[in-house]
Amino acid sequence: MPPFFFAIDRFYSTDYTDVPCTIDKMEYKSFTPLSLITGASMHPVKFLLILLALLFIIPPPLQAKPLTIKFSHVVAKDTPKGKAAEFFKQRIEERSAGRIHIKIYPDATLYGDRAALSALQLNDIQLAAPSFSKFIDHTPQLQLFDLPFLFRNTEHLHRVLDGKVGKKLLQQASIKGLHALGFWDNGFKQISANKPLITPEDAASLKFRIMSSKILEAQFRTIGADPQILSFSEVYSALQQGIVAGQENTLSNIYIKRFYLVQSDLTISNHGYLGYLLVTNDIFWQKLPDDLKQIVSEVSTETTNFARSIATQVNGDYLNKIEASGKINIHHLTPDQRAVWQKKMLSIYPDFYNLIGEELIKQSQK
Ligand code: LMR
Repeated sequence: MPPFFFAIDRFYSTDYTDVPCTIDKMEYKSFTPLSLITGASMHPVKFLLILLALLFIIPPPLQAKPLTIKFSHVVAKDTPKGKAAEFFKQRIEERSAGRIHIKIYPDATLYGDRAALSALQLNDIQLAAPSFSKFIDHTPQLQLFDLPFLFRNTEHLHRVLDGKVGKKLLQQASIKGLHALGFWDNGFKQISANKPLITPEDAASLKFRIMSSKILEAQFRTIGADPQILSFSEVYSALQQGIVAGQENTLSNIYIKRFYLVQSDLTISNHGYLGYLLVTNDIFWQKLPDDLKQIVSEVSTETTNFARSIATQVNGDYLNKIEASGKINIHHLTPDQRAVWQKKMLSIYPDFYNLIGEELIKQSQK
């Protein structure tokens, strides 16, 4: 017996165990749990002291290890997606009381977007939020969002995302091992080159970097330009070395990736939309306990709203920074000038009725 227990045992053995028992004492002695195990009778105070001693000596049961989720994305922290990812991490860790830990790999430090989708399907990572165009092999219908001049404004966009079209696309994306969690905003795209782009003809025969999307390819071909698919991390050097002459992206991406330093002219065209689908994989999702599934789903919705609340402001702030740098000429299209681009680009819609679904496109236009 350890010395401490021995001392307790000695102390109480003179007090009670050797004296004749009252009925009460008999009951105490008979029913202490330790006496049931050891077969010996024991005074309740002695029993409590032993219990207390055990609490100090025996280490607490091991805490379950937190579930670590790897989240890979390609942009910097100070962008709508980077901020949304940090918000998501913070809320999930808070709400799960530490049962889930999220490790974010921003700036393509782990995977580029399309590689991230393959890694996700293999459960090498558990979260990604690629832009819609990157789902071309998985859910080509998501290219709907690449259609130029589809959304009149953010309010229209959100109505489509929250309505039947958005729900249908979430279902369509939850196949081939992926589970779609929600849409995150970035914003409207602007176009830049090494010359002013005021009319679509200004872009003719120029090479433009595009994301991997059939619609973006058609959008540039219809204005006589030459689209080139490049991954996001290759764009700056391709512009710098003149491999491509221009590009389209949101203001946050144009500023953070310093595209404005290697282009002479930026046109504020708001001609297309860039947003993201937050996805996890089925292997991970099916194993997640129901209460954690609920937390992840609820925080995904919270993060959709968070991204919406900051995206316009973040992109606006970057426009101010680009302007303040004085490094690039900025052109704001007049409504008439914009209408010319719109007319040209809308002509590609019918070519995608089969791929995306005519009904889905027409519903989104309402
Ligand atoms: C791009 O490739 O231009 C974008 O998808 C990058 C991003 O994720 O915002």
